[in-house]
Amino acid sequence: MSAKLNATNTLRVTRIASVKTENQTTKTYTFKDARCAKAKPGQFLMLWIPQIDEIPLSIMNTEGNSVSVTVKAVGDATRHLHNMKQGETIGVRGPFGNHFTQNNGNVLLVGGGTGTAPLLFLAKQLATKTKRLSFIIGAKTKNELLFLNQLDPLCTEQPVAATEDGTYGLKCLATQPLETLLAEEGKEKFKMVYACGPEAMTRQVFNLTEKHGVQMEASLERLMRCGIGLCGSCMIGKYRVCKDGPVFNSQQLREVKDELGISKLGFDGNRIPL
Ligand SMILES: Cc1cc2nc3c(=O)[nH]c(=O)nc-3n(C[C@H](O)[C@H](O)[C@H](O)COP(=O)(O)OP(=O)(O)OC[C@H]3O[C@@H](n4cnc5c(N)ncnc54)[C@H](O)[C@@H]3O)c2cc1C
Ligand code: FES
Repeated sequence: MSAKLNATNTLRVTRIASVKTENQTTKTYTFKDARCAKAKPGQFLMLWIPQIDEIPLSIMNTEGNSVSVTVKAVGDATRHLHNMKQGETIGVRGPFGNHFTQNNGNVLLVGGGTGTAPLLFLAKQLATKTKRLSFIIGAKTKNELLFLNQLDPLCTEQPVAATEDGTYGLKCLATQPLETLLAEEGKEKFKMVYACGPEAMTRQVFNLTEKHGVQMEASLERLMRCGIGLCGSCMIGKYRVCKDGPVFNSQQLREVKDELGISKLGFDGNRIPL
């Protein structure tokens, strides 16, 4: 292992500096870690919750030496983290993986659920570079729409919100306004579509960008243990999501389309449906 990877992979103990409640199921945690504070949008870290587990999380923001992650409570580790308070001890490894490329042309970002977190980080950096920055944000219901207020000033047009139950914005999946935008604007308009969210959404974004001849990059999730390409638990096709990803481009997504949004490896190594 190289000295640089060794240092990145060494667990650093830090304390939760602040906790912000985003909605009933989601909180944002900020802590100091000089190494992860140098991360680029799309990279992730492994967060150690003492005596419980270590889990992969996308980096949502960096500022000075501070790093933020946004976490939805879904199981043991994330629920335990949700009960932790400012000042409590956590551990960090990373940052790991590749990152989104930053396209200077007109770009469209599509975020679903907590997948909006790394796209907010990306939007902050793209806002000063692109001519047109459009955002489609999707969630099941209004309360689960994340970061709408923070995204608004970064975008060149009002972000399009879509909720499945119609409690805010359009009553549809995020991919419906995407289809409309891609059909209206054609491939000359958007140079890149960036996506992060439930994999069923990403699969549909992939199908639509292929149909309209637009390049895309998507951040994928798989079960992760080591985070550094050793254990193989995060394989998709020939790729290790932790090391070759988590961001994959259109060419790579074509190679893994038989698994994209369809199946993944479980912790016992068996293939399970998504
Ligand atoms: C690169 C990457 C970035 C992620 N970014 C975020 C983020 O920004 N915010 C967020 O809320 N969640 C994120 N996740 C998902 C997060 O890691 C899981 O929700 C978390 O590990 C669940 O742990 P748990 O013990 O609470 O739940 P469990 O009860 O263990 O599992 C609940 C579900 O979470 C998934 N999961 C469990 N353990 C892992 C693991 N080690 N790796 C991946 N998935 C797992 C399983 O599919 C399971 O169905 C990311 C995952 C990856 C791979
Ligand atoms: S998490 Fe071990 S190889 Fe990717």
